[in-house]
Amino acid sequence: MFITFEGGDGAGKSTAVQSVATALASNGIRAIVTRQPGDGPLGPSIRQLLLHREMPALSELFLFLADRNQHVERIVRPALERGDVVLCDRYGDSTVAYQGYARGLDVALLKELNGLATGGLCPDLTLLLDLRPEVGLGRLESKDRLDKEALDFHRRIREGFLALAAEDPGRWRVIDASRPASEVSAECVEAVMSRIECR
Ligand code: TYD
Repeated sequence: MFITFEGGDGAGKSTAVQSVATALASNGIRAIVTRQPGDGPLGPSIRQLLLHREMPALSELFLFLADRNQHVERIVRPALERGDVVLCDRYGDSTVAYQGYARGLDVALLKELNGLATGGLCPDLTLLLDLRPEVGLGRLESKDRLDKEALDFHRRIREGFLALAAEDPGRWRVIDASRPASEVSAECVEAVMSRIECR
């Protein structure tokens, strides 16, 4: 089962992913935790470029897609084929929200390119940690290139994620991430466990 975690910067995805991984392990369910950008053989180098170097919007897009392609080929598909649950911190919906809704690239084209980059691999469940960007950005201890974008950019990201979730409610679960981390994590664990039990 392929589960992705999405949300704006500072929404607390990493903590939620770790809590879900711990809950799965204590139930004897094999899972891997992985993230985009940054995992896979080329991931660390691509991540460095994306987070710290200035570049045109299309170069940014192609780097995220390259990262996703090698990550799916080398990490995600092999894990799914072994029967592991894959918990992925960001996936194609981040490209649609950030490069599409916020940066202004064509959303339909981005969905198509995500399909090309992943061979059509779609998550079974996506948890959206939803939070006002003012709150999320305020939680960050340090800011990378994308975190430093204007508040309006971050507002469009949130609107984008909420629009994607509304289009496909069967895949998405929207979680109020303004609550204490323990409550957010508990809801994430519940959402994942009930989806696994449905199988
Ligand atoms: P990261 O430090 O992993 O952010 P976070 O901890 O909030 O997940 O940095 C990844 C940044 O890249 C983040 O600002 C979101 C952005 N991003 C895109 O713009 N497009 C994408 O396709 C992906 C995967 C991430």
